Amino acid sequence: MKKYNWGIIGTGQIACSFAQSLLRVNNEIYGAYNRHVEKAQTFAQTYPVQHVYENLDDLLNDENIDIIYVSTPHNAHYEMIIKALQAHKHVLCEKAITVNDRQLEEAVSIAKENNLILMEAMTIYHMPLYKQLRQIVESGKIGQVKMIQVNFGSCKEYDVHNRFFSKDLAGGALLDIGVYATAFARYFLQSCPNTLITTNQYFETGVDEQSGIIMKNQDGQMVVMALTMRAKQPKRGVVAGEDGYIEINDYPRASQATITYTVDGHQEHIQAGDTSLGLDYEIIDMQNAVFEGNEKTLTFTRDVMKLLTEIRTQWGMVYPFE
Ligand SMILES: NC(=O)c1ccc[n+]([C@@H]2O[C@H](COP(=O)([O-])OP(=O)(O)OC[C@H]3O[C@@H](n4cnc5c(N)ncnc54)[C@H](OP(=O)(O)O)[C@@H]3O)[C@@H](O)[C@H]2O)c1
Repeated sequence: MKKYNWGIIGTGQIACSFAQSLLRVNNEIYGAYNRHVEKAQTFAQTYPVQHVYENLDDLLNDENIDIIYVSTPHNAHYEMIIKALQAHKHVLCEKAITVNDRQLEEAVSIAKENNLILMEAMTIYHMPLYKQLRQIVESGKIGQVKMIQVNFGSCKEYDVHNRFFSKDLAGGALLDIGVYATAFARYFLQSCPNTLITTNQYFETGVDEQSGIIMKNQDGQMVVMALTMRAKQPKRGVVAGEDGYIEINDYPRASQATITYTVDGHQEHIQAGDTSLGLDYEIIDMQNAVFEGNEKTLTFTRDVMKLLTEIRTQWGMVYPFE
């Protein structure tokens, strides 16, 4: 695989996992920037980063950088993506890629005009298990997909200031964990849902603490989702077809699934990839997309962002900076 020079923007929690993946896939990390430079310097002591930048423009203007990885909180994704694309860099951005579809569509236009790759670091689109399961679904082995059930519940510590509950940082269950559930559902649907019913419960900061969401597409396929940030639920996805169903536990970074064929009840266990390498697969797909000049997951990302935007519109939930 051709080697690329990556620049990391935001050296927080997920950037540490990303750095380990980048070292595995690429052997080196070219550059890193954090708004508090000391944090980037500490990061560079843990992972061998070749260049630490004191300001963002220095990273963006470094002609040696091919790909930017954005790992700031959600509220800062849009600004970082646009600046990186305008500096003619390919961009891999953490989920949720933007806070609404308007921001995403603007970024997509700039990427297309400049022949740049824009990709969301959504593990589901890149894990080998999902690529195999999609082939199984497309082959018709479980029959026509009718119903998808998908949950995500984590009990985040009660802290009105952390990014999960902060409205200023575009917190809330939908953007933080609902993006996984929606990506899971969209990945197995024939088309994007065009009917949507939802209700939610707000946390005291004004972000969505939990919600129930039902969706249907023009092909009559339905999705039922349950999200919460204050109660643990199994992260479980079920894709049910007329002839069988697929169950995936811990689906955001899954490497195993079970298919039950309803005609005779026999089961098939699918194993593909490695859960601990979730971010490695994102890097490999991004580098391949840059090499081939062809991106395969942006359609899912755009549909998911359209749905997340519509859900918040129905709730009447607006972030202060929108
Ligand atoms: N943590 C996870 O397990 C995980 C998993 C998958 C995806 N993600 C996604 O990754 C992103 C980051 O999450 P995280 O958990 O890594 O967050 P985090 O630990 O809070 O790190 C965020 C980083 O971004 C910087 N930052 C904050 N606000 C900024 C701004 N306005 N402009 C520029 N830089 C800013 C922070 O710098 P300072 O500390 O110097 O303020 C920090 O280094 C989110 O989109 C999240 O959904 C996280």
